[in-house]
Order: sequence, then structure tokens, then C-alpha cells
Amino acid sequence: MKEVLRCYAEDPFDYKPVEEVLVKFQGVKGALIPILQAVQEAYGYLPRQALEYVSVKQKVPFSRVFGVATFYAQFHLEPRGRYIIRVCQGTACHVRGGAKIMQALKDELNLEVGGTSEDLKFTLESVACIGACGLAPVIMINNDTYGRLTTEKIAEIVRAY
Ligand code: FES
Repeated sequence: MKEVLRCYAEDPFDYKPVEEVLVKFQGVKGALIPILQAVQEAYGYLPRQALEYVSVKQKVPFSRVFGVATFYAQFHLEPRGRYIIRVCQGTACHVRGGAKIMQALKDELNLEVGGTSEDLKFTLESVACIGACGLAPVIMINNDTYGRLTTEKIAEIVRAY
């Protein structure tokens, strides 16, 4: 561990959260995915420095760590917002104006799909059916669902966060 810390001595990155995760998983074999889940939970995403640290400490080639991190959709390599706005673009929502809802959100947040606001408050995502078709068009902000949306409601909803 000392070697790694020396190596990154000039690096302002905060390694404490990833160190804590690795302490928790000490001696647990084949735990790469749960480790990455916990690291993502700690940072909100998977910073490259944290992946490198996991690779060195777990003695797993970086290519493998990076491969797992990029293979699974649950992992994110870029910082994400505290609030994830998921805009349903499934068939029912599409038919009922899902594209206009998306456009209204893009305009309100000044973001493209997949984008995160500079203050790391919001990330805008497009998703397929979220199982609330009867409420189409639908968005989710973290665990809150908003249905039967109109473009007029968007600004009010977003500004409440
Ligand atoms: S299509 Fe949007 S919730 Fe099903």
C-alpha cells in the first residue's frame, strides 16, 4: 500500500474511500464486482485513480478491472449528478410526447442526454419503459416518479430539487 501512496503522493485525489472499501473486502476472494459497487457507492462513480488503486491492491490487472467497470451498465466512469433524471422513451411514453418532455428537460437543464450539470446536481438519462405506461409520459428523479407530464410542468418539478 505504501508504494501506491508514494506513487500518488502528488495526486490530490482522495484515496480514503477506496482504501476503506478494500479494508472491508480484505481476504474476500473473487469480490471484484462487489468492490467496484462499493467504490461507486462511495464516490458516486468509478474514478480512474480508484480503479488503479483497486488493481494494485487486489493484484488484478488493470485491464481486467477496467474491463469489468466498462462491461456492466451499472458502473459509471464519469461523475454523475446527485439527482438522476430518467426520461422514459418507451413506446407508450413516446406516443404521448416523451420526446417533447425530453426536449423540455434538455432546455431547462441545458444538458444533453447522458450529460451532468457542472454543479453535479443533475444527470439526464434516457431509459426504455419503466413500467408505469398508464402514467405516460413518465420521468423518474432518483426514486420519485412523475407521470402524465406536460412540458409546462417540467420547470416546476426540476426547480423543486
Ligand atoms: S413506456 Fe414509459 S413507462 Fe412504459
